[in-house]
Amino acid sequence: MSELPLLGPLGVLESSAALRCEAITKAFQGVHAVNGAAFEVPEGQITALIGPNGAGKTTVVNILSGSMTCDAGREFIGSTEVTNWPSHKIARLGLMRTFQLSRELGGLTVLENLLVAPAHQAGDSLFNVLFRPGRVRREERDNVERALHTLDTYGLYPLRDSRASDLSGGQKKLLEISRAVMASPRILLLDEPMAGVNPALIDRIGNHIRDLRASGVTVLMIEHNLNVVEKICDHVIVLAEGRTLATGRLSELRQNTEVVKAYLGEVIDASTSR
Ligand SMILES: Nc1ncnc2c1ncn2[C@@H]1O[C@H](COP(=O)(O)OP(=O)(O)OP(=O)(O)O)[C@@H](O)[C@H]1O
Ligand SMILES: [Mg+2]
Repeated sequence: MSELPLLGPLGVLESSAALRCEAITKAFQGVHAVNGAAFEVPEGQITALIGPNGAGKTTVVNILSGSMTCDAGREFIGSTEVTNWPSHKIARLGLMRTFQLSRELGGLTVLENLLVAPAHQAGDSLFNVLFRPGRVRREERDNVERALHTLDTYGLYPLRDSRASDLSGGQKKLLEISRAVMASPRILLLDEPMAGVNPALIDRIGNHIRDLRASGVTVLMIEHNLNVVEKICDHVIVLAEGRTLATGRLSELRQNTEVVKAYLGEVIDASTSR
């Protein structure tokens, strides 16, 4: 299932996985939402996490990003074990995530939403505010510049002074991605970044995700739309009933009868019966 390990410059075994989990389990009131999920997310690629509703996809992303602890299993970022680390520590290793239901700060403007995103701002420390005001001001100015540049990249610059709560569903998805990108992630977990978004915006978000890959970011995205998966994802992980059913390219998975039965069949039936 996993790719062959690579030999590093010193002949030491190296994994090409940016993120890896082993036998993750999580139960809610005794019912297993995740039941042994195990997979690798290859470095520098776009990986899709697909599966039927209730398969445990969001719960896996919650666990991998430190929003939730697991009952058993292990998680690694590169070669560092990060099992049940809190999200702020995981973020320090460069892993950021977005949410299935956008979590913008509705009362703040679009620009302000980005300015609260970067980790370790000099102004967070009272010592710096009192004794290094120049450094704090410089960093604030740099952050505003970077935020405006990010908003421009994501087509949100004209909306910078709008309240985040006034954005459309698709614009909120773009804002979520921009906020995560402000923290300069190495690994980005996206929970249904295109759900409820109109087709033109789906293409735009897809292009942004490809651009992130081109800049070296590893992406794991939960996605139900197989056209999107086919178009932009290099690698696919199928989750069913909390377990990893299969991994590979979408074209290979379409030949896998177990996968077709558990998930793709539903999608193919739905699309042919239209
Ligand atoms: N906080 C929670 N408390 C209780 N049960 C939960 C909780 N979070 C998830 N579940 C249950 O765990 C199972 C997996 O849910 P999860 O949201 O991870 O699925 P999913 O694959 O993301 O589904 P969808 O495609 O609908 O988003 C579901 O049966 C869900 O009801
Ligand atoms: Mg979900």
